[in-house]
Amino acid sequence: MTARIQPSILSADFVNMQRDVEAIASADAVHVDVMDNHFVPNLTFGLEMVTRVQAVSPIPLDVHLMITDVDRWAPGYAELGAFSVTFHAEATAEPVALARRLRAIGARAGLALKPGTELSPYLELLPEFDQLLIMTVEPGFGGQSFMDEMLPKITAARSAIGAGGLDVWLQVDGGITTETIGRAAEAGADTFVAGSSVFGAPDAAEAISALRAAADGNHRH
Ligand code: DX5
Ligand code: ZN
Repeated sequence: MTARIQPSILSADFVNMQRDVEAIASADAVHVDVMDNHFVPNLTFGLEMVTRVQAVSPIPLDVHLMITDVDRWAPGYAELGAFSVTFHAEATAEPVALARRLRAIGARAGLALKPGTELSPYLELLPEFDQLLIMTVEPGFGGQSFMDEMLPKITAARSAIGAGGLDVWLQVDGGITTETIGRAAEAGADTFVAGSSVFGAPDAAEAISALRAAADGNHRH
């Protein structure tokens, strides 16, 4: 299978967002980092901005919520038409109920884990989700280094998905470059978020192709 590449508009030019989502039209989805200056120290954008990005984007939106109070806010991102809505396990006491609400609206439901959050308590919930996001940096900022110590967690997640015969995409986010993507793919990731390595490159489309090639050369499937 071909690796899914999802550039993060956290590294785009916020006043040229339409131009920048058009520049990544060859990618599989736009990764949209919603931050509330509370769950993480940084602040980005909310429902109104994402509604406009959805309206102009040539490819689907993969929304990554780094916010508290996801039970209040997450369904709105599904309602505006996001293809996928991922919330953090650390941000709700009722992840299954929220996943069901998102799916009922028509979005794919994603569960994200910070680097310090154990995978094992969440494995039994995976059938309720379409995507599992293993953070490979501490969430909040672009341009950080890939945490190699997350590779065993990716391997464990891939094993559980395989053992359960589940159709769950395994996404990684943080520090993904042509140098690191192979290791994440080899561990079992199939969906790759990349911010600075796409928007910091001279040509975003070429960066997307290079990431895809580097991942596919190392894929476990
Ligand atoms: C970090 C965000 C990431 C970020 C990745 O909290 O969730 O999506 O944009 O940026 P890079 O690829 O530069 O590490
Ligand atoms: Zn993200």
